[in-house]
Amino acid sequence: MTAGVRRTLGVCYYPEHWPEAVWAEDASRMARAGIRRVRIGEFAWSRIEPRPGELRFEWLDRAIETLGSAGLEVVLGTPTATPPRWMVDRHPDMLGVGAGGEVRGFGSRRHYCFSHAGYREECRRIARLLAERYGADPRVVAWQTDNEYDCHDTALSYSACARAAFQDWCARRYGTVEALNTAWGNAFWSMDYQRFDQIGLPVRTVTEPNPAHVLAFRRFSSDQVVRFNRVQCDEIRKRSGAPIVHNFMGRMTGFDHHALSADLDFVAWDSYPLGFLLDRAGASQAEKERFLRQGHPDFQAFHHDLYRTCGRGRFWVMEQQPGPVNWAPWNPAPMAGMLRLWAWEAFAHGAETVCWFRWRQAPFGQEQMHAGLLLPDRRPAAGLADVTRVARELDELPDAGTARGPCALVFDYPSAHAWEAQPHGIDFDYFALCFDLYCAMRRAGLSIDIIPADGRDLGPYSLVMVPGLLELSPGFRDSLATCAGRIVVGPRAGLRTDELSTPAPMGPDLPDFPLTVTHAESLPPFASLPLAEGGAVGRWLETIETELEAIERTVDGRPVLVGGCRIGYLTGWPDAQALDRIVRRAAQAQELPVLDLPSGLRVRDTRTHRFWLNYAPEPLACNGRTVEPGGVLWEPLGEPLERGSGAGGNARGA
Ligand code: GAL
Repeated sequence: MTAGVRRTLGVCYYPEHWPEAVWAEDASRMARAGIRRVRIGEFAWSRIEPRPGELRFEWLDRAIETLGSAGLEVVLGTPTATPPRWMVDRHPDMLGVGAGGEVRGFGSRRHYCFSHAGYREECRRIARLLAERYGADPRVVAWQTDNEYDCHDTALSYSACARAAFQDWCARRYGTVEALNTAWGNAFWSMDYQRFDQIGLPVRTVTEPNPAHVLAFRRFSSDQVVRFNRVQCDEIRKRSGAPIVHNFMGRMTGFDHHALSADLDFVAWDSYPLGFLLDRAGASQAEKERFLRQGHPDFQAFHHDLYRTCGRGRFWVMEQQPGPVNWAPWNPAPMAGMLRLWAWEAFAHGAETVCWFRWRQAPFGQEQMHAGLLLPDRRPAAGLADVTRVARELDELPDAGTARGPCALVFDYPSAHAWEAQPHGIDFDYFALCFDLYCAMRRAGLSIDIIPADGRDLGPYSLVMVPGLLELSPGFRDSLATCAGRIVVGPRAGLRTDELSTPAPMGPDLPDFPLTVTHAESLPPFASLPLAEGGAVGRWLETIETELEAIERTVDGRPVLVGGCRIGYLTGWPDAQALDRIVRRAAQAQELPVLDLPSGLRVRDTRTHRFWLNYAPEPLACNGRTVEPGGVLWEPLGEPLERGSGAGGNARGA
């Protein structure tokens, strides 16, 4: 599509699961299907090193040779998400510990604590050995570290080694225990410490632990994931010029993905639209029914837009759902055409490669019920035809580029951690708040970049939404001050300090924006307040002092959106109807064209093309185009948009 960037398909393959006799046939069938890249190795530690120090690379050499001979490029994973059994014998205290004190034992995967120094060194060693052997191998075109950090809720561990490492982290962050006591407000409930080694983990307290303590532990845990990953990157980078990537997951906030991405050359993520719809997209019952076999129409796009920014303009889908998965509460099969739609949607958002998980369905182990592109007996599964079609279409599609969206949504991991530590209402969820705003922008047909709250230039954006930001750093405030677009801040912006205490006054503290928040309330679902122009505000509502004009009010007169033509502040969490109005008005004020998209139809603009994607189970029409269920259309944009190529640029090259 874009000159210089190859858009390709890939697949995840497990040579260690199959007799060597079928590898060559697999490789040539992959190549014939139009697959160009194959990820291998990420769970194979027990076969690479069956006993401590006994290295068996020969089979991996032959697997790479077989794939390479078929013209396939290899992405090699470090196998550190699956420490072998002997590793646990060697380091019995390396296992992660859950919040209830349960030890996360051997027998599945991700059974390690990020703070265990011994295991971290074992990971350094295996990454080094792999990089020594394959670092200069031209068939290895990229490296993947570990697999889905934080998956299965593993970023947080309450082990003894986590506790010791947390005490060190506190000593480094605060310098003196007195400074820590002040920062956390430990005068409250006599929680003062005299020494860092007295500090425990914020768990199993009688009632809630101090939210500042919880936030510090979340920050520490995020830093531990970043540190763990960096060790592997350093070892690989010393020995290989191939880019390093990690495969993130959907809706995971256990660590700061922006911070971790700084050590990667680009990022990847794993997209399972049907599993996500039923287990984490926050979909309503009606949405689950309507989109059961298609996935939530905005959930994949949200992560493409988020991770593209993490990758400084470059991302892949490392795992794409190929049929029913095995891990959601229910696991339906995709509607015809959806594999193609998901792939094209990823490309429209800038993905360079989309890899299917997995080549062939496993006939053993935990994921036997998870589809592949082939059935366990090697016959084609339903999805293979879609993949071949996308491969053909990729060859035909003109250069479409990827545009930076004209709109931005700020997504900030520290804010996610803060509001998890102190939600105030049981259903106040930072991801859900951001996702609601994102969905409203998508329903208006807008293309979006999801960006961190840093000092980046907001100049290219006509509309910037900043929900739920814990704290507005000076750099971010400066960016907002110089942004010429329309900015909508709030709710819950600037209501806490970096240490989760209460600033005086509370509020976003923006230049020429006289507004303070006096208090906030959370509301149960049955207590939403209707708005004068339709829709409602619920879950969260602030009381403010300001002379700024109220643009939206509740029926009984409480201001919900206030401000002028440049900056608006939301005092509460509007429902979809109200958000649609707020977003559309803000976009129209900026002369951004908005669309009336029917439920399930979405668009994404690239530099040169508009993509139309139909997630609905029936044909949908808009502006004279009709898109079939599961269908994708693309058309050249009238005028190529000159908005740069992807969010941020300057990624290291593959
Ligand atoms: C992913 C994981 C894969 C596989 C897949 C099944 O989260 O990275 O290893 O388990 O899910 O859908």
